[in-house]
Amino acid sequence: MTKEEKYLSLLPKAESLIDTECDLTANMANLAALIHMEFGFWWTGFYRIMENNLVLGPFQGPIACTRIPFGKGVCGSAWKKGETIIVPDVNLFPGHIACSEESRSEIVVPVRKGSDIIAVLDIDSRELGCFDTTDRLHLEKLVGLL
Ligand code: SME
Repeated sequence: MTKEEKYLSLLPKAESLIDTECDLTANMANLAALIHMEFGFWWTGFYRIMENNLVLGPFQGPIACTRIPFGKGVCGSAWKKGETIIVPDVNLFPGHIACSEESRSEIVVPVRKGSDIIAVLDIDSRELGCFDTTDRLHLEKLVGLL
């Protein structure tokens, strides 16, 4: 299956999970698990905005840093810019926060409620250049279900 086909097969599963549950934590947890299991990424999870920090939320993968300030790292930068950031090589991103030495590339997608950003979805891969505009398009659609 191509990456596109994997995302397309995942969408109805995500919709049926999220349509039947209104709790945000439960839905973030299942969405992270669904994406993580389908693609076998290194780390897949959410950071939620609380008191001007991003605080670790539901995730799959190794333990991670618990708080990221506004504008810091890839996650804080995506929050500040209000847009998805794709990092083909984390070592070339100034200020990248290395929660795991294994991570080589990363994508961070803002999660909105109305016009407000309430969280970010962060995905790390052990391969360089793992993420592209296909990931951006489909991940933005998936977090839009929350
Ligand atoms: N690399 C992220 C930190 C979170 S971990 O990757 C799970 C960053 O630079 O914001």
